[in-house]
Amino acid sequence: MSNALLSTFLKDGTSQEHERLDRRIMTLAPFADRERYTLFVRTQTRLQRVASPLYQSERLARWLPGLAARDRLSAALSDCADLGVSVGALEDDRRAAEGVGAGDDYAALGWLYTVEGSNLGAAFLLKHAKSELGLSETFGARHLAGHDDGRGLHWRRFKEVLDALMLSHDERRQALQGALDAFGFAREGVEVLLAGAVVDVQ
Ligand code: HEM
Repeated sequence: MSNALLSTFLKDGTSQEHERLDRRIMTLAPFADRERYTLFVRTQTRLQRVASPLYQSERLARWLPGLAARDRLSAALSDCADLGVSVGALEDDRRAAEGVGAGDDYAALGWLYTVEGSNLGAAFLLKHAKSELGLSETFGARHLAGHDDGRGLHWRRFKEVLDALMLSHDERRQALQGALDAFGFAREGVEVLLAGAVVDVQ
């Protein structure tokens, strides 16, 4: 498995987490009404807050050219504004993401894999946001929008660059840990906000 392309290695290593998270989110009815959808958007905002410094990192951009343009934090924050998320809730989200670093650059690659990949499933989520809640790529569901070049092509380009990096066995393991940590952080946001569970996020 460790000779596989990095993107395949990361996909294989996270597919179980993805499935669990995807199922969990859909069980929690994020499209039942705008209130529940807003909680979902806040989970996404927390994730994008942690990822944004990675997208903006000049060091990482030397590996992944054009990285900054993929950053979806401002789209997520605009969605929060569209949906009327309170200042207090925005502050909670900022605090939940504060201090959650990706670790080293290899773990950061894994985080970026997970956050970037989430834009693929977003096609399906956008459809729901449109048909069930009347939202769109320009109001309330901006962070779910695809790229102008097409979601699939944009993702394939990302994977190509990722797969061209020469990583050692240990560096690949670190990347996988980063990808899993990103799924773990996303799951925690879902449990706290959408499921309303009390999770220790110190
Ligand atoms: C209900 C929520 C979600 C659904 C229904 C969903 C659905 C999907 C679907 C259908 C794909 C495959 C698309 C394709 O191959 O064309 C996909 C890919 C992906 N999603 Fe999700 N997703 C959800 C949430 C998330 C979240 C929250 C994350 C990140 C924390 C995430 C991370 C990924 C990744 C990394 C991939 C790419 C897998 C690969 O091919 O390497 N997804 N998702």
